[in-house]
Amino acid sequence: MKESGQRMDDPVRIGVVGCGSVLRRPYMNILRSMAHDGLIEITAVCDNDEDKLRAASEAWSAARATPDYHEVVGSDDVDVVMVLTSMPLHGPISREALEHGKHVFVEKPMATTLEEAAELIELAKRQPGHLVCAPAVTLSPTFEEIGGRIQRGDIGPVLAARGRYGWAGPTWGKWYYQTGGGPLFDLGVYNVTSLTGWLGPAQRVTAMAETAVPERVVDGESITVKVEDNVHLVLDFGGGTLATVTTGFTMPKYRSPALELYGADGTLQMLGDDWAPQGYELWSNRLGSWQVFDDTAPNWPWTSGIRHLVECIQSGETPTMAPEHAYHVLEIMVRALESAREGKAKTLTTTFEPLQFDAPQRGAEHLVHDRSHR
Ligand SMILES: NC(=O)c1ccc[n+]([C@@H]2O[C@H](COP(=O)([O-])OP(=O)(O)OC[C@H]3O[C@@H](n4cnc5c(N)ncnc54)[C@H](O)[C@@H]3O)[C@@H](O)[C@H]2O)c1
Repeated sequence: MKESGQRMDDPVRIGVVGCGSVLRRPYMNILRSMAHDGLIEITAVCDNDEDKLRAASEAWSAARATPDYHEVVGSDDVDVVMVLTSMPLHGPISREALEHGKHVFVEKPMATTLEEAAELIELAKRQPGHLVCAPAVTLSPTFEEIGGRIQRGDIGPVLAARGRYGWAGPTWGKWYYQTGGGPLFDLGVYNVTSLTGWLGPAQRVTAMAETAVPERVVDGESITVKVEDNVHLVLDFGGGTLATVTTGFTMPKYRSPALELYGADGTLQMLGDDWAPQGYELWSNRLGSWQVFDDTAPNWPWTSGIRHLVECIQSGETPTMAPEHAYHVLEIMVRALESAREGKAKTLTTTFEPLQFDAPQRGAEHLVHDRSHR
């Protein structure tokens, strides 16, 4: 285990805990590409489901396979523990890994309770390992470009904002519909991360949340849904600025912008989803017109957080995805659900250092013909 802050030239050794849907599809692609580039090796895979473990073990034949995550977090041949399990296990596994001095990459949310998350924040300060928490939406070039425009004042002070992300809901993983699951932790987390990434920490939250579809078929079985699957929340950023987030396992499809920012001098709309942006549109009061900006990185993968962590370990730099931001996002989500249950707004107590944007302004974009192979 190398101390953070030191350069590391050897491939970073990764132990993956949780080999379900998200590993099998999206993370497999980025991990294979990083291994191909000599950035990483997968030294351990872990799942307590025999079939999932066997499949991962076949995919990474050089890796040790184990059903016991304690073996991975304590292993001498693991630098980074990647936590890709069901959400209620994120906190406990990440805590043990940090206690062993490992770097941790954890899927969202970082934990499902504020107490667990506070422990992780404290440990990450004391231990040598970095703690990087998904989602990585703040790393997308489109997110950074919009952030740069906000900070340069292209739409003036932001007065109002909206985010939305939803779909019909997973047909696998019963835990998605039990305590610690639900669409706010699973989907709304992206919008809350984006909005606070641009606008900084929020001060208050209020919400309504209901269970719109009480029975579902998951993994081939009929189940009773135990969480709110339909959530609408309002964030107060202070100074009169408000934002809403609409999320749920209640939305078949949409063609509206993922995020809308309304300023005193103009409007910015991110197209697509914040985890898969498709460019953005800008209304300027000064110009009296809309401008449409193609996405400069249409192949940017939302799994980029693990690459960011590995690059930071190798360069000795501190990741830009601060765990305090993820903690603030978790507080918003936890307090939003409390607010919905109690029928009153909640004051937020956590905070984080607002992001700074130095994305280059656009130049000769017209000279790029093949955007998918740059
Ligand atoms: N599926 C996606 O497309 C997707 C996308 C983005 C993020 N995520 C996030 O990734 C995480 C996993 O989601 P998923 O859809 O892959 O879920 P999943 O249920 O398909 O996979 C979770 C895996 O964790 C394993 N697991 C559970 N308890 C374990 C334990 N004690 N020890 C070892 N393994 C254990 C399960 O057996 C399962 O294989 C969640 O946090 C989710 O929010 C998923």
